[in-house]
Amino acid sequence: MTENPAGSEGLDDARSDASECTRCPLHRDASQTVFGAGPARAWLMVVGEQPGDQEDRAGEPFVGPAGRLLDRALDQAGIVREDVYLTNAVKHFKFERRGRRRIHQKPTVAEIRACRPWLDTEVRLVRPRLLATLGATASQALLGPSFRITRHRGEVLDFSTPGSGTLSVVPTAHPSSVLRTPPERRDEAFDALVADLRVVASHGPGGRAEPG
Ligand code: URA
Repeated sequence: MTENPAGSEGLDDARSDASECTRCPLHRDASQTVFGAGPARAWLMVVGEQPGDQEDRAGEPFVGPAGRLLDRALDQAGIVREDVYLTNAVKHFKFERRGRRRIHQKPTVAEIRACRPWLDTEVRLVRPRLLATLGATASQALLGPSFRITRHRGEVLDFSTPGSGTLSVVPTAHPSSVLRTPPERRDEAFDALVADLRVVASHGPGGRAEPG
């Protein structure tokens, strides 16, 4: 794994190293490693759970239905997607085949742990001002297995990662959970995601929480 690279060159090296990752069994069935994407020096890193079916085929994070919902939520919160580095706690798609469909499976603690060095590398290279984690898997990957998103979503919390010291993270719901919410409550779930992302935006360029 790349040790002390800087800027996009370092990210390119890490992406290339990760494309050959065999640290857990998920590489066997997935089409490819889906590494993070976005500016090499983004102020914000958004961390999802794992690539979905469309991301696995495209090799890019958040290009499917959850990504489109995330785009709308970021936009409503005043965050420019092109300014954000998007990645996942686990970088291979985990699924079960049912006929011709590939059904998402939740990654295990061991798989999340095996993938963590890639996330640490991304954090160390991008050096975001803030992270936002989407859903329980990504939040627990950074904040520990006892973290409960229902209790702490939208809060600014500290976590530490090797090589980057202590950083701030705002956990929120996963856009897929908004998509799974029954239609009569979906707008409410979407608005709650936007409200959390507004907390994130307040720490961004021009945000009210920005120092100075
Ligand atoms: N869900 C995620 O958590 N990440 C993606 O990249 C796509 C869907």
